[in-house]
Amino acid sequence: MSTFIPVNTPVLDGNEKAYLSECIDTGWISSDGPFVKRFENGVAARVGRASGVAVANGTVALEVAVASLGLSPGDEVILPSFTIISCAAAIVRAGATPVTVDCDPLTWNMDPAEVEARIGPRTRAIMVVHIYGLPVDMDPILALARKFDLRIIEDAAEMLGQAYRGRPCGSFGDVSTFSFYPNKHVTTGEGGMVLTDAAELTDHCRSLRNLCFEPGRRFVHRELGWNFRMTNLQAAVGVAQLERLDQFIDTKRRTGRLYNELLSDLDAVQRPVPATGYAENIYWVYAVVLADDVRFDAIEAIDRLAAKGVGCRPFFWPMHEQPVLREMGHFAGVRHPVSERIARRGFYLPSGLGLTDEEIERSATALREVLAEGRA
Ligand SMILES: Cc1ncc(COP(=O)(O)O)c(C=O)c1O
Repeated sequence: MSTFIPVNTPVLDGNEKAYLSECIDTGWISSDGPFVKRFENGVAARVGRASGVAVANGTVALEVAVASLGLSPGDEVILPSFTIISCAAAIVRAGATPVTVDCDPLTWNMDPAEVEARIGPRTRAIMVVHIYGLPVDMDPILALARKFDLRIIEDAAEMLGQAYRGRPCGSFGDVSTFSFYPNKHVTTGEGGMVLTDAAELTDHCRSLRNLCFEPGRRFVHRELGWNFRMTNLQAAVGVAQLERLDQFIDTKRRTGRLYNELLSDLDAVQRPVPATGYAENIYWVYAVVLADDVRFDAIEAIDRLAAKGVGCRPFFWPMHEQPVLREMGHFAGVRHPVSERIARRGFYLPSGLGLTDEEIERSATALREVLAEGRA
């Protein structure tokens, strides 16, 4: 019996160990150590931003990003329904109202036409989330933000190293965020970052990350913040990872191409779009959606693949269908047919940076067998 193929395997064989040893040897293990600044500067330079604020994970990066904008109760933020709960949670916790839009059936990214249709007198911001490998079509979104004087929060958690019309993902938001969870292109174990250009937003994010200590009078507070700091240990791993980002992106694209070749004749699943007019897919994950005539849903397909030794994950469950948000009174009567369908029929195959060609081939073969079962 061959070994189980996990959905993700990180690659940590660069300078990670050496930099971690440096932290131990010097005693710099907290957030005050020098790797934190190095990592912040490195990511900001890569994305072309004035500054980065390293935090504990991508979820709290969104929390800080949204809080830094100073929204008021009743202010509305438009976001895709097809995303992770972190996005809606940050909006709700900031006291604002999330307003969802559906996604494009091919790219699975938020549909700019729907965004325009949902802009109203209370709209203050658009939260853009780049999904699975292709960026959101940014030009129409940026035009709407200019026209209606809206802020942009850009969740680029999955998209470090990707570009939209040659401009880096993470460079578009008034505040932009990344995650460094082990399935991301650069990992710190757990970690995240907020990127900004405006000095006052950077200062606000730094303050929110660090309990809003008052400069000069440390234990006096005029605003409630959090301890969301990243440690020097995490940042040391991040610096080592960032050195190899281009190589990691090549690996992802190669994995995507190999899956595409192996699955090119299959019509029982929709495969990722290799390229649009504005970007080439980076295949953060290799995602598929079951055709309507496959007689089971994504959860059953995932179970059947697991039985064959292949680890998969379901797609996001839409925000407008989240029990916790519905119970809070959000999204009454809202329907988004594309998000609802892909949530039930979509999943992704093993996509980690440590995946071997043999594992990709085994995963593709297992998918082929499962799809044959689904049409038998
Ligand atoms: C689009 C998106 N935003 C935010 C996050 C949250 O990041 P984290 O897991 O670091 O909290 C993720 C996590 O995978 C994500 O995919």
